[in-house]
Amino acid sequence: MTGRICGTGSALPHLLVTNDDLSKIMDTSDEWISSRTGIKTRHLATEETTTGLAVEAAKKALEDAGITAEELDLIIAASVTADYLFPTLSCEVQGAIGAVNATAFDLSAGCSGFLFSLATAQAYIQSGICKKALLIGAEVLSKIMDWEDRSTCVLFGDGAGAAVVCADEEGIRSIIKGSDGAKGMALNCKNRPVNNPYQKNQAELSYTYMNGQEVYKFAVRTVPQCIEEVLQNAQMNAEDVDYFIVHQANIRIIEAVAKRLKQPMEKFPINLTECGNISAASVPILLDTVNRRGMMHRGDKIVLAGFGAGLTWGAAALTW
Ligand code: UT7
Repeated sequence: MTGRICGTGSALPHLLVTNDDLSKIMDTSDEWISSRTGIKTRHLATEETTTGLAVEAAKKALEDAGITAEELDLIIAASVTADYLFPTLSCEVQGAIGAVNATAFDLSAGCSGFLFSLATAQAYIQSGICKKALLIGAEVLSKIMDWEDRSTCVLFGDGAGAAVVCADEEGIRSIIKGSDGAKGMALNCKNRPVNNPYQKNQAELSYTYMNGQEVYKFAVRTVPQCIEEVLQNAQMNAEDVDYFIVHQANIRIIEAVAKRLKQPMEKFPINLTECGNISAASVPILLDTVNRRGMMHRGDKIVLAGFGAGLTWGAAALTW
């Protein structure tokens, strides 16, 4: 038995903000953002919450999979911007959709969160612990951005993606993941400071910090390596792959991956142009877009890859 992705869903906030809109409130330009990253617009939450977006994506994924919430026995949500420290986002989703037979927990692995969730669900399925899992990547990153730091806030967006993974004969052929905690501070956001009767701190809010060039170098080195490794484990060649669904951080990173794998950019669907970087939600949102456009057919070979805070990375090779 292996895990097979049998349904996808996604949700985006209604407000669409262009690069030109941002250039009216900070010292930036469409020219800088487009040429350095490929990003043109991003959806930003106004009324929407991380939980609300996650629930909408989850309901669509269940409908696409043709199963009820009661059939789920596992829910994993990956997010760095859940609405509450507790209860977890996954428990909130469980309550909202009525998945009364599921165990729900959250997983934090930055932008690799969806790949880490997929690897966890796969281990549960292969060991017989569960048969039907709901995986969610959901972020409202705009709430942890410093809107006076143009080097980070223009890059990120908000949204949620979800996938149902069921035990089946065919599906995930290989999945790998890794982390390098020694480089963690290259991309960080502090939690609340200690503040108790014995250690008084001025409670200052922390926002996202990124050493863009360090993360960029890490990504162009690590992503092709982990895709090559997962393909080798799955006994597949890059030429066999129909689509590479890669974390959407920067078009130049994706172009570098395509070049290193000697594969055409047509095999790399893109949504960062519209959505920017949505961390753990980026891969499942793109997967849902490609699925709903009818671009994937049963039997197609797909590679998923994520990378980001931690630093972390992961890749999966699967049959659709
Ligand atoms: O999902 C997590 C993974 N994250 C990533 O993969 C991100 C990886 N890194 C990157 O994609 C790129 O490093 C960035 C897009 C973040 C930055 O591109 P860069 O080519 O590395 O630019 P830079 O940081 O070296 O900045 C170049 C210049 C600086 O000006 P000076 O010092 O050369 O005068 C910045 O101040 O661009 C300036 N700059 C901006 N200018 C206009 C930085 N942000 C902006 C901005 N608008 N928004």
